[in-house]
This record gives sequence, structure tokens and C-alpha cells, in this order.
Amino acid sequence: MKSMEEYYVPWVKGIPMYVSAHIDLAWEKPDLRRMMSNENPNPPSKKVLEAIEKYAKIANRYPDQGFVVRKKIADINGLPGIENVMLGNGSSEVFDNIFRCLLQPGDEVIQHTPCFGIYKLRCDILGGKLVSVPMAYKDKQLLFDVDAIIKAITPKTKVIVIANPNNPTGNYISKEDFIKVAKTGVPLISDEAYIEFDGLGRAFTGLIKDYKNVIITRTMSKCYGLAGLRFGYALGDKDVIAQFSAALLPWNVGTITMWGALAGFEDTEGLQERADFNNQQVAFIEDSLKDIKGLDIFHSYGNYILFDGTDAGKKGKDMLEFALKRGLILRAQKKMYDREGWFRITIGTAEENKMAVQAVRDFFAS
Ligand SMILES: Cc1ncc(COP(=O)(O)O)c(C=O)c1O
Repeated sequence: MKSMEEYYVPWVKGIPMYVSAHIDLAWEKPDLRRMMSNENPNPPSKKVLEAIEKYAKIANRYPDQGFVVRKKIADINGLPGIENVMLGNGSSEVFDNIFRCLLQPGDEVIQHTPCFGIYKLRCDILGGKLVSVPMAYKDKQLLFDVDAIIKAITPKTKVIVIANPNNPTGNYISKEDFIKVAKTGVPLISDEAYIEFDGLGRAFTGLIKDYKNVIITRTMSKCYGLAGLRFGYALGDKDVIAQFSAALLPWNVGTITMWGALAGFEDTEGLQERADFNNQQVAFIEDSLKDIKGLDIFHSYGNYILFDGTDAGKKGKDMLEFALKRGLILRAQKKMYDREGWFRITIGTAEENKMAVQAVRDFFAS
């Protein structure tokens, strides 16, 4: 008799379950301030809660394919209709679904590093090879390097993912640079998880018409403040979306989620309030820390800010420990460009942001 180990596909065998230790810690100790996962500090609006309650009462019924919410998403983004929209259980599932349609074992995914970790996780599970192209570190800035991305393309490259704005660097790729990559014809994802903080002005939705290989991904986890609801979506050419949708897990997005999401999309005022609050708080934190010598601040269009304290002789991991003693969970960023001073702060409530500013000031003065 063969052992269980002999039945696992080689590319999955031995991979451990993905665990977000910092999120588990935050749930275990609710007094800690969650300034690490780019969640929204403000709870869902009344309208969303009402929709959730309404559909919870008929949770005995299966959902449809999301006709109403997909139509709403198409309208918001100026796209013809529901055939341009695919829903996911968070955008993490959207990446998974797209990758499953594009990758065979040995195929390559290009990402621009530093970036969000899910692309690698979903690539690994399919036996894909993650090709990490570093951003250019120049004059204390982290810049998109599209020439390096294009150079990394091989016959095995099946998808390129660029977050826009990028997490953790907080900056946008220019449209011109993005088009340069789109012109290669390789499937190209613009991960616009944070775009609503700055409005849809820099979204690449308009490119879908001319570039069938351009796919946009979005989430309600960030500016809409619905991370726990798990709602994400992809926008693309109708034939491309139809093909990706063939791989969807049936009923992947539940009734409560899709109607809660619709209420979120309808609450445009609530969205604007959240964006305004966030952007004021980003400015507050950046302004409050800009005089610290040797602390580099990477201006952000998202709800997080990347810092590098290397030139002040500080290490990011020590900053995290210091903050944790004050009840704040910040986010680590591993060594890059031969520098170890990196850390990231997610925008919290006004009170939490003041606490974070004080913790950073005290740490750098110590
Ligand atoms: C760039 C980026 N994309 C996507 C996501 C995840 O989103 P979701 O909650 O929709 O799975 C994150 C979350 O941190 C992110 O940073």
C-alpha cells in the first residue's frame, strides 16, 4: 500500500498552510492596535449592516451569479456590463482563479518586489515559478522599473502582476510605463486594491478595450472597509472574463457578502468619508515624522506608509518590538537593498495614529 505522501502532487507536497501570525495575534489579544494589515479602522456603515442583516435572514437560499452587484460594478467603472466583471471571495481568490487558468507547473509569474505576498503563494500552489523583479531604489525612492520587468519575460511567463498603487511602497506606476508592459501581450494584472483612496482617476480600466491582456483586480477590503466580508472582483475583456469565470468555484461569493457589497458600492458618501479620513491621517503621520533625521518616509496613496530608518542606525524589527510593548502591531519588511531599517504602518483610528507617531518618535530618540 502506498503512503499518503506518495499521492500528493509534487508541487503541493510539504507546503504548510498559510498563517498570518500578526492577524491571529490581533484576534487573540483584542486590546492590541491593528496597524499591520492595511485594514480600515472604521467599521461598516449602517447601510451595509442593514443589507447583511436582511440577507442573513434568507441564508437558507443559494446565491445567484451576482447579477445586480456585477452590473453596479460595471456601471461604476464605465464598462459595458456584467460580462466584464468576475467576483471573488476577496481579491486573493480572484488571483487564484486567474492563475489557475494561466499556469501549468513550471510556468512563471512576474511580480515587482517589494509587494503583496499572495501572488507568490498562489503561484507556488500551482507549481509555478515566481520571478521577483526588484523595484529600482534610487534617491531614497522605490521606483517602478518596467524595463527590468520586460527583460524578465521568457516563453514561460504566463502572467505579470503589478499593484497600483503598490503595497508597501504606496506609489503609482505611470500609465505610459504600464502600457509599455501591456504591449508585450503577456497577461498583465493591475492590482488596484487601494485605488479608491485616491479615486478612480488613475485606474487602468480604460485600457481593457485596447489591451485584451489587461486585467484589473479590486477589493472591498481596503477603502470600503469590508476585509472580513471577503469581496473582490476582476475587470476585463468579456471573452477573457468568460474564460476565467469557467474556473470559478460555484457559489464562491455568498448572498450576504454580495448584497452587503452592493450596499457598500451604493454608499458613495461613506466611501468618500473613509478616503478623506485616511488621506488626512496619512498626511498627519507623514508630517509628524518628517523631521526625524535618518528616517525615510515613502509617501503613500494607500492606507499604509513604508519607512526606512537605516540611516538613523535603526532596524525595522526593533521598531516593531518597541511598538508592540506599547500595544501597537506594526508590519515588518524584510531586508532589501542591503538595508534593514524598513517597517510599515497601517493607518488606524486618529487615536492610534497619534500613539504610533509617539512610538516612532520615542524609538528614534532612544
Ligand atoms: C496589493 C494588495 N492586493 C490585494 C490585497 C488583498 O485583498 P483581499 O482582502 O481582497 O484578498 C491586499 C491586502 O493586503 C494587497 O495589499
